[in-house]
Amino acid sequence: MGKKLRLMAVIAGMDLLLAAALLWTLGILKLPAFGGGNPVLERFVSAAGANDAPGRPKDGLSTDTGQPTDTGQPTDTGRPTDTGQPTDTGQPANTGPGDGVVSEKRGNRVKCVALTFDDGPNKECTKDLLDGLKARGVKATFFLMGESIPGNEDLVRRMKDEGHLIGNHSYRHIQLTKAGENAVCDAVDQTSVMIEQITGERPQYLRPPYGDWNDNLECKVDMTTVLWSVDSLDWKLQNRQKIVKRVLKDVKDGDIILMHDIFPTSVEAALEIIDTLTPQGYTFVTVDEVLID
Ligand code: NI
Repeated sequence: MGKKLRLMAVIAGMDLLLAAALLWTLGILKLPAFGGGNPVLERFVSAAGANDAPGRPKDGLSTDTGQPTDTGQPTDTGRPTDTGQPTDTGQPANTGPGDGVVSEKRGNRVKCVALTFDDGPNKECTKDLLDGLKARGVKATFFLMGESIPGNEDLVRRMKDEGHLIGNHSYRHIQLTKAGENAVCDAVDQTSVMIEQITGERPQYLRPPYGDWNDNLECKVDMTTVLWSVDSLDWKLQNRQKIVKRVLKDVKDGDIILMHDIFPTSVEAALEIIDTLTPQGYTFVTVDEVLID
C-alpha cells in the first residue's frame, strides 16, 4: 500500500500539474513561467499532497480494526445487511490545505468516484448494468461471490473485456471473522481461482461480506481489502429514486460507493447516478485509482 500511495500521489500531482499547464496555456492562470517556486503552482501540488492529510476521508479503506463489524445479523441470508459502517456523512469535504485554490479552479480539476458492485454476478441485473456502463463508457468495480460465478462466466469475461476491475467477495456471503482462518483463506482463494480461470488474472482486491474483517485475516490473506465511503443502502431501499438521492447527498471527490448488482433498482439507480454526476465533472474510475492508504 505504501508503494501505491506514493504512486497515487505522483499521479495526482501530475493531474494537477497538467491542469495548471492547461490553465496557463489558456491564459487563465497568469504565470510568468513554471517552476522556480511559483506559489500558485505549489499550492496546486500541495492540494494533491492533501490526499494523505488527516482531513481526507478514507473510511472506505481497509486495515482498520476500529470499524464496527459485528452486525449480529444472520450470516447466511445471501443479502447484505446494514453493518452500521460509517457512511462519511459527518466527514468534512476536502478540507485539506490548498482546497480553496482547487475549488476556484474546480472546472479544470477532475473529480473521481468509484462505483462498486457486490454480490454478483447476477444473470439479469449484471447484464443490464454492463450494457448501461458500456453505453456510457464508464468503468466500475465488481466484487464477485464465488458461488454466483458458475453459469455466469460470460458476464465475468465481459467485465474483464470491457475494462472493469474484478475483485473478490469471498465464496459465500458469510461473516468471515466468524469462520476459521483456514476456511476464510480457502473461500477467498477458491473464488480467486474461479475468477482467474475465466479472466487469466488473479484478483488483487477483496471486499469482505458486511465489511467484516480483522487484523488476523489481514495477515492471512494477501490481498488489498477495500471497504467503501458511501453506502447506497440499495439492498434496503430498493427504490431507484431513494437510492439516487441518498448517494447524491453524500458523494464527493474520491468516494467509493457501495452498491449491489443483484437488484434491478440498483442498476437503474447506478446509471442515473452516472448521468447526474458526469455533467458535474465527475469521472468514474475503478477502485485501484482512488485507493490511498
Ligand atoms: Ni455483499
